[in-house]
Amino acid sequence: MPNMKKRTLFLLQKKKEKNEKIISLTAYDALTAAWLSECDIDFLLVGDSLGNVVAGYESTLPVTMDQMAYHTEIVVRGAVNVPVVADMPFLSYEINPEEAVRNAGRLVKQSGAAGVKIEGGMNIIHAVKKITAAHIPVLGHTGLKPQTILQLGKYNVQGKTPDSAEIIKEEARALQEAGVFAVVLECIPGKLAQEITEELTIPTIGIGAGKNCDGQILVTHDLLGWYEKPKHFVKQYSNFRNTAITSVQKFINEVNTGEFPDKNHSF
Ligand code: KIV
Repeated sequence: MPNMKKRTLFLLQKKKEKNEKIISLTAYDALTAAWLSECDIDFLLVGDSLGNVVAGYESTLPVTMDQMAYHTEIVVRGAVNVPVVADMPFLSYEINPEEAVRNAGRLVKQSGAAGVKIEGGMNIIHAVKKITAAHIPVLGHTGLKPQTILQLGKYNVQGKTPDSAEIIKEEARALQEAGVFAVVLECIPGKLAQEITEELTIPTIGIGAGKNCDGQILVTHDLLGWYEKPKHFVKQYSNFRNTAITSVQKFINEVNTGEFPDKNHSF
């Protein structure tokens, strides 16, 4: 049964306080947003992962503000009673805080997002402060930051050494201090995620960060099994790719044998 209560981003803090898990998934289109709204999702994320998943780029770096604005707008149109958070793409918030506010404002004003997500730590604190001062809720994102792939070289677990773990902790503290309403912790050891979750008063939302975060987020396409090879931290709850290929093949066979269209599907 869908949760018919009005869902807002304010509920996330309440859930942390009540020790209830926060659940979020990605959506990039109206139809997916509509059926996800029928599930007990706390918020939908229009992730810049749409660069990989929808656009077929190798990284999220080419994703533009125009693409984020369009996908956010169509997700908001399909979402029923569930808040939509939009990712700020690479170089839409780093240049200066004023531009960050303008771009965040576009995702809220033009596309209807309830908040924005920004990847980063100390480098984005000014932008986070400016955006929250403009009354736009910001979701932080630390640990593995896919937008830093050119410096990282590969997407791997972050915070494995004491020094790097301490940096991630400092970033999470600074983001909380700057006013984010929650923070995504991506690909870090479960113990580190647990320590951050226990220390912060705002919710943590993990992806590849173990079970002790306040909530979990995944890319919807990953959990549905649209890919042949899932990422290590993704559990595939169905094999959509095989179902789709089998169904299409069946359609092709039935057209070839004349079985489709039959009289039930003709005028
Ligand atoms: O871009 C994205 O989809 C994300 C997450 C899944 C957290 O940042």
